[in-house]
Amino acid sequence: MGETLERWSTRRAFILAVTGAAVGLGNIWRFPYMTGENGGAAFLVLYVAFVITLGLPVMMAEILIGRAGRRSPMQSLAHLAREAGATPHWRWLGLFGGITVFFILSFYSVVAGWSIEYLIDSANGNFAGLSPQEVGANFDAFLADPLRMTFNHTLFLLLTMSVVAAGVSGGLEKLNNLLMPLLYLLLLILAIYATTTDGFGAAMAWLFKPDPSAITGTVVLNAMGHAFFTLALGACALMAYGAYMPEEQSLPRAVVAVAILDVTVALLAGIAIFSVVFSQGMDPGEGPGLMFVTLPIAFAQLPGGSLWLSIFFLLLLLATWTSSINLTEPMVATLQDAGLKRGHATAVIGALVWAAGMLSVLSFSTMAEVHWIGEMNFFDLVTTVPTDIFLPVGGALIAIFAAWVMSQETAQQALGVDAKGFRLWQSLVRYVSIPLVVIVLISDLF
Ligand code: PHE
Repeated sequence: MGETLERWSTRRAFILAVTGAAVGLGNIWRFPYMTGENGGAAFLVLYVAFVITLGLPVMMAEILIGRAGRRSPMQSLAHLAREAGATPHWRWLGLFGGITVFFILSFYSVVAGWSIEYLIDSANGNFAGLSPQEVGANFDAFLADPLRMTFNHTLFLLLTMSVVAAGVSGGLEKLNNLLMPLLYLLLLILAIYATTTDGFGAAMAWLFKPDPSAITGTVVLNAMGHAFFTLALGACALMAYGAYMPEEQSLPRAVVAVAILDVTVALLAGIAIFSVVFSQGMDPGEGPGLMFVTLPIAFAQLPGGSLWLSIFFLLLLLATWTSSINLTEPMVATLQDAGLKRGHATAVIGALVWAAGMLSVLSFSTMAEVHWIGEMNFFDLVTTVPTDIFLPVGGALIAIFAAWVMSQETAQQALGVDAKGFRLWQSLVRYVSIPLVVIVLISDLF
């Protein structure tokens, strides 16, 4: 297959598409509970440090490969490898990315289903007047009900797959254009409201006053994995989007803009959520349920709480939707390369992801005590290993490909910077980002 001639219509459209992929459950659901489980500010500092030292340079690497190849990830890798006289086996990196996003999407869709449930519940006013204990008990009862969870998981996947099959994600991006600023606004309101609560001071200290003794090998690994996850990095998903990047756009500038937008969402969500945690005397390390328990409590204090809460879950769902479309794209592209039609490829992937997601659904009821590795049930496993191990490994290989393997002239052109800027990026990737990933992964293994 040859180069694609399609392009995002404007620079803003490209930035929005990548922001749509980046901003999702990772910022609003995963970031707060990971911070809660990993010692608060220590985790936050490490995560931001990884976004700067790894996230930015490797994101440029991933997108520039797509931009230089102008093909699906596997084909771009093979084409650029050949051009540089290297082995076209580099294409298998695209398949590895496909496997990674497969597992990520399988639990992503289940948690997105929780948001559907909460959207409907809040629109019906079901949270009005509930005590914090009752909100918590509600969430536990929901998790213990595999039928309701299955229904929502199925519905979310159908929504995602129908957009992917129709290839109309452009329309969704336009919607996103409007909704993303609204999501910011709502989070901002929540964060401002948080300043008036009793727990605000404790939340700020928890988030921004690092306790160095909280840093362990696992905390470092989790922070690195989360930096990749939140930026949608390391699975060739952004590579797929890079193929449509306009010629004249500055890649470094776009990447910095996306990273700033992405981290801001996480910080706002963190401030809002931890203020509730500390106002209510809850446990910050409560785990994946944290957002679903704290936000209904917070909104209940605001006038018109049920309405705000439903708007919030609607916006969260839309942000999640754009991320899950990005998660699906590399898998569909891979099957299309293998000769399947787009509709068929999407159906096959949808069915497989659905089945894998069912193992996560059941991890809260019938399979809660089925341990796959150590003490981890399926949901524990699938929410950690692909993110903490597969994404960094994929990201390191992507970085090696961009900064060592492919033609450095082509790379410079696709990065769209002058010789000095290119050398800076190249040295950062070669001597900082790649060694850093390798050191963190190896030191965690032993
Ligand atoms: N970045 C998305 C989020 O934060 C998740 C994601 C991971 C999307 C990897 C694409 C690839 O929710």
